[in-house]
Amino acid sequence: MARDLNELELLTELEPVVADLTNRHLTVTKNWSPHDYIPWEEGRNFANMGGEDWDPSQSKLSEVAKTAMIVNLLTEDNLPSYHRTIQDNFGLDGAWGTWVGRWTAEENRHGIAMRDYLMVTRAVDPVELERLRMIVMERGVNAPEGFQGVLDQVVYVTIQEVATRVSHRQTGKVCNDPIADQLLKRIAADENLHAVFYRNITEAGFEITPDQAMESVLEIITSFDMPGSGMPNWRRHGVLMVKHGIYDLRQHLDEVLTPVLTKWRVFERDDFGPRGEKARDQLAEYMVKLEKDVLKFEERRAHLLEREAKKREKAGLAPEVVPV
Ligand SMILES: [Fe+2]
Repeated sequence: MARDLNELELLTELEPVVADLTNRHLTVTKNWSPHDYIPWEEGRNFANMGGEDWDPSQSKLSEVAKTAMIVNLLTEDNLPSYHRTIQDNFGLDGAWGTWVGRWTAEENRHGIAMRDYLMVTRAVDPVELERLRMIVMERGVNAPEGFQGVLDQVVYVTIQEVATRVSHRQTGKVCNDPIADQLLKRIAADENLHAVFYRNITEAGFEITPDQAMESVLEIITSFDMPGSGMPNWRRHGVLMVKHGIYDLRQHLDEVLTPVLTKWRVFERDDFGPRGEKARDQLAEYMVKLEKDVLKFEERRAHLLEREAKKREKAGLAPEVVPV
């Protein structure tokens, strides 16, 4: 039976792949600037500079759009935490270090652009946003228990990047503002390239050490948390985002897990040893249960939306738009 590779061996074996993928990324990525996506003419001073402070009436965004924007921005703000974890698992030597630096710089652009948009358009309360940023960043994010090493890391970031892409795209739709939609599409396109990068490294991991890769996939998928979990007000915010299809269990299954597992050919591979087979069987069971949970979730949501629509109709209110 093949012996497990240790962390150093994994990093060394994967490094040429990281070098190739980084070069490929640099040829396909678009070097865009946040300032090109912001409607600066809408901007004006706040009270401290002789203008007027924020008031809820100034925001053109719906409650769900505000929530989704804040959650997505706070997720981007937490970059130092992700950078620390990634650096711990990848190291900064050679191609790994080049990639970590590049990825961090690109991710930082997302937070800059979203914050510029929210401030200039007065879309959310700037004082509250800053208060939340302080809490979220001081707390940081910890990797789930049992999560360690380069394979867990690349599998996790693959899922996280695809999930974030879905979340940004859906947020763009609920903002009901072509400028926000264009900006979030631009950000989502970056997340897509990041997802492709990590997905391809994981694929190489499957080729090098299939059992270890399979065990990482099982570990990460069965313990994955939605982006934003653990933030202040997450229960309320999470429910609102799920209800409006910003990121829900159906998207998690259909748009995130299934395409990624298909790409890795997890259920077709014939190169597993007993450990890989066992992990794959466990994942198959988990996916069956998840599909059932998704159906239950969709029924519950449909029921809830129907009840709310009736309430709104009774009260003479216009129907709520749910972009799913
Ligand atoms: Fe990002």
